[in-house]
Parts: sequence; structure tokens; C-alpha cells
Amino acid sequence: MCGIFGVITREEQTLGPTLVEAARRLAYRGYDSVGCATVAADGSIDLRKDVGRIAEVSDRLGFPEMRGLRGITQLRWATFGAPSQPNAQPHLDSDGDLVGAHNGNVVNNVQLRELFIREGLTVRGTNDGESCVHAVERHYDRNGGDMLAAIRAAYHDLEGDYAFVITQRGDHRLYAIKKGSGLVAGLGEGMTCVSSDLPSILPLTRRILPIRDGEIAVLSPEGVELYDVRDGRRIEREAEWYDGPIEAAEKGGYPHFMLKEIHEQPAVVGELLHLLNGSSHVERFLQAPPLPRERPVYLVGCGTSYHACLLGAYYFGQLAGRLAVPLLGPQFNEQCGCWVGPGDVAVFVSQSGETKDVLNAVKVMRERGGQVLGVFNVLGSTLMHESDSYLPLACGYEISVPATKTFVNQAVLFLYLAYRLAGRDVAGLDTLPGLLAETLVATDAAARQVAEYLLGWEALHYLGYGLTHPIALEGALKLKEITYAHCEGMFSSEFKHGPLSAVHDGYPVLFLTAPGDEAMMISHVNEVKTRGGHAIAIAAEHPALRANVDDYVVVPAAERALMPILLTLPAQLVAYHMSVQRGIDPDFPRNLSKTLTVD
Ligand code: F6R
Repeated sequence: MCGIFGVITREEQTLGPTLVEAARRLAYRGYDSVGCATVAADGSIDLRKDVGRIAEVSDRLGFPEMRGLRGITQLRWATFGAPSQPNAQPHLDSDGDLVGAHNGNVVNNVQLRELFIREGLTVRGTNDGESCVHAVERHYDRNGGDMLAAIRAAYHDLEGDYAFVITQRGDHRLYAIKKGSGLVAGLGEGMTCVSSDLPSILPLTRRILPIRDGEIAVLSPEGVELYDVRDGRRIEREAEWYDGPIEAAEKGGYPHFMLKEIHEQPAVVGELLHLLNGSSHVERFLQAPPLPRERPVYLVGCGTSYHACLLGAYYFGQLAGRLAVPLLGPQFNEQCGCWVGPGDVAVFVSQSGETKDVLNAVKVMRERGGQVLGVFNVLGSTLMHESDSYLPLACGYEISVPATKTFVNQAVLFLYLAYRLAGRDVAGLDTLPGLLAETLVATDAAARQVAEYLLGWEALHYLGYGLTHPIALEGALKLKEITYAHCEGMFSSEFKHGPLSAVHDGYPVLFLTAPGDEAMMISHVNEVKTRGGHAIAIAAEHPALRANVDDYVVVPAAERALMPILLTLPAQLVAYHMSVQRGIDPDFPRNLSKTLTVD
């Protein structure tokens, strides 16, 4: 998803390397185009941008040599307008006096472009980021050159959720506005900066100023001033010191970030458990009125995070006897939006903390007076600021587009909460990091062999029963995402109600099985086997199950509740190996983005 970064300095300097590094740190969000603009002391604007990877475009267009007092970089993931050079950002206004870039969606982009063209503005592309620049240009030209007033007026014209950064060649300030998309400012020595998220700021400074929706940030080298977009009032807010880690986004010897992140899972689970054990946030989370017995708690997320919610609902039900209702973000609004209210509690789960489909649901919950509990990985994210109470996932950066370690920590977090609600001793979870490390060693070779079998198939199924149902959905999603094969994940008993017709000679079906469910799964395996299907079990060793399947990926024996988490790892490895065997880069699958800030 698009990411923006802007910097302003006291002395003119070579800003290119700072911009390229910021772009590199925003890259995990996903992108198809990249651009940089710098404004020199004499007001000249240098704008370079194109479709392609950062390293390639930067080498070709010479980003590192770009000099100036102010700089903007933007990574674009196409929504309005195809990926192309004119649609890449930043954008100039008609006369080349303003330069700016956005993240998000301006939903009245088509109408605005028509208006701008009618009014004689020079519109070069079809991207809505360009509309942000022209929207400011119109008012700036009319009001005699007051940037703050022009941005405030443009805000009323631009419908949708976005953040943008903009500057004028003769005005030694950088302006940024937040409306629905993430935006945070950093204050350093003789420079300030603004970005879609923290990772691109932290190498420059740890003094962070959060920006809220409806605020305009005016950056100078000496500081950042905040203004309310509605009435122009100055807002006073102290900067905060960020103490968290600044890990470099490096692959650490692994061929892909995805494999590195899969192998980080035992460690991040250990860190999360440590954090949860010592955290006052857990108490606040559990005491949020309620998680009560008399009402369900809603678990809301999208994609992989939704699968964690589904698993959370099984954990809350089976371990704590609590009804939890897993819902997709938009489904929450459609199903519950007109009646939830004070006394209702929803846990909103999002790795990025920026997923628009989830934030839309948060907004409805807040408007109706319900409690918003947030679970996210990216500190400083919009979800963090919108939550009444929150728990971070403590995974460090997840760069690879497919979520791996953040899913596992979401699952562990729900398991931990279910243990606490059930009054069980959470010390029982301390075996998890060791079991996960064993699982990686025990399953990698078998997962690679399974991937070789699957290589020739363009359609397949993953089945799970009860607790392993969410892992079937997650295993199937990973496979679809990074191998481009069609894989459907299902509750295994549902397979006979229609999809069984897909089975023919050799058709692959993977069966994820938790201890206690083997007898049921053997029935479901045989429904497939008798029709010529190829059954692959992923489970702890179980002789009867083994006798019924064609291939077996053995995971270490463990308590039933831990098994869905262990089974996730071979499912990730199968998808990873198949992706690599197909010559696909699993870190950056086509058409996908890490942070989805659009509807
Ligand atoms: C799949 C994946 C996506 C995300 C989804 C929600 O590997 O990463 O399905 O889970 O886009 O993202 P977050 O968790 O950031 O809200």
C-alpha cells in the first residue's frame, strides 16, 4: 500500500540517500512505483519517478544524487489509475510550484479531475494523489499564497481517507495532513520529518509526534506545529520518546524475508509471552467492560488476521466457555453496525493497524459507544490510537507480504487470553517456543516434498476440523497468495456437501488434524481416497491416521490447544517451498500489498 515520507533540513544537502532509505523501509507495505522530489534552496524542484522496484528505479534515475532542503518520497500501490510514470508520485501542480504525494483513496477523484480540467489546470495522469496537489493549487492560487488556508479548503473538496505531504517551492516549510490514513512526525537535530509509519522515521530520530485525523502538520527544520483543519486552531502536543527496537530490514542470510520470518516464530512467541506475563495492559484488556459472560465478544479482522479471530473464537469457546463471534471488518458493520452499543466489546485485530476495512469497523464501534480493544503489530498505527485498550504483537518488522509471524502471535495472544479467562495457568504455554523450533526442524523436508507433489496442480483443498479449521483457511490463503494456485480451505465435514466433486485421480487434499480429532478425520480422508484423491496428513504421529493417507507431515506431539499453532508452520513452509519452486518471489507476490488502506 502507498507510503509517504517527507523531510525538511536547515542546510541544503544530498537528500537522495535519506529518501531512498525511507522508501526501502516503507517497501514492506507493497508498491508498484516509486518517486522522489527535492526542493533546493533556490526553489527549484527536482522530480524523478517511475514504475519498478526501488533499487532499479533509484539506480536508473539517480535518486542518491538528489539535493535539497526539502524532500518527499512516495511508494505507490495502484488503485486510481494504472501503474505508469505519470501516475507515479510525487506530483507537480500545473505550474510546477507545488509538489506533493499521498497515501489512501480520494473517492471523488473522477469528479475532481473533470473539475480541474474544466478550470484549465494541467492534469497529467489519473491518479488521486495528483488530485490532492491540484486541490491545494486551486485554493492557493485564489487566496494569494497561504498554504495552510489552501490545505484547509482542499480538505473539504477531497472525499475519502488519505494522508498527504506537500510543499511550495518558495515556502521553506513542509505541510502534511491526516484524514484516515496513518501519519506520524519525527523531530531531529536541525531537521523534522513525516511518514506513513514509524520504521522510516526511527533511523533519523526517536522523538515522535503523533498526528491525529483532521490535523495539519507544518514542518520546519526547528519543529512541527499542528493545526486543526476545521477551525485552523493551533494544537499543542508534546513529542514522545520512542524506546522500541530499530531493526534493520535485512534478510539475515535467508533467501527471502518470508523464510526468515517463519524461522523467527519461536523467538517472537517467547517475546510475546514474556510481554504478556508482565503487562498491565492484559488486565485492562480483560477487565474492559466486560469481557462479560452475558454478552459475546466480537473478534474482528481481515485476511490472515480474520483467521486468527476465527481461531480465537474456538479458543474462547472450547477453553473458556465464552462466546466469541469472529467477523470480517466490513461484515461487522453490515451485521452488527446498527445495534451494537455501550456494553459491547470488540477486539480489532490488524498486523498493520492501518487496514481500512478494520478501521471502518472501529469507527462504527466508537460512534455507537462500544469498547474498542486493539491488537496490532505496528506501534504508532492508527488502530493503536483508536483503541480504548490494546495489546501489541511484539513481532518486530514483518517485511514479507504474506503474514506469518504476526498470525502466529495473534493466535498465541488469543490462546493466552482464553487461558486467563478460563483461570488456567499460563505457565503451560511456556513450552510453545521450544515446540515451534522443533516443528520447523521436523517438518521442513517433508513440507518441501509435499510442495513438489503440489507443483503440478492448479487447484487443491486444505481441510481442518474444529480447532484446525482456521489453519486450513490460513494454509489455503498462504498457498493462493504466493503460488497463484487456487486452494480452498474448509471445515472438513463440509467437503462432502459439494466440493467433493472436485476430487479425481491424484487430486491433492491436505488434512490438518489436532489430537482427539483423528477418528473423525479418518472418515473425511476416506471420502477423498475412495474417489481417487491424494490425502496428505499434517498432524502429530498417529498410526491409524498414517494407515489411511498417502503422505504424512509429522509435527511434534503437543497438547491439543497448542496444535493449531504448530500446524501453521508446515502449512507456511509448504506454501513457501511451492512458491520458490514455481519461480515466484514469495515476499512480493503480484497484485498484493502489505498494508491495505483502501476500501
Ligand atoms: C495474508 C495477509 C493479508 C492480511 C490482511 C489484513 O498473508 O497478510 O490477508 O492479513 O490484508 O492485514 P492486517 O492484519 O494488517 O489488517
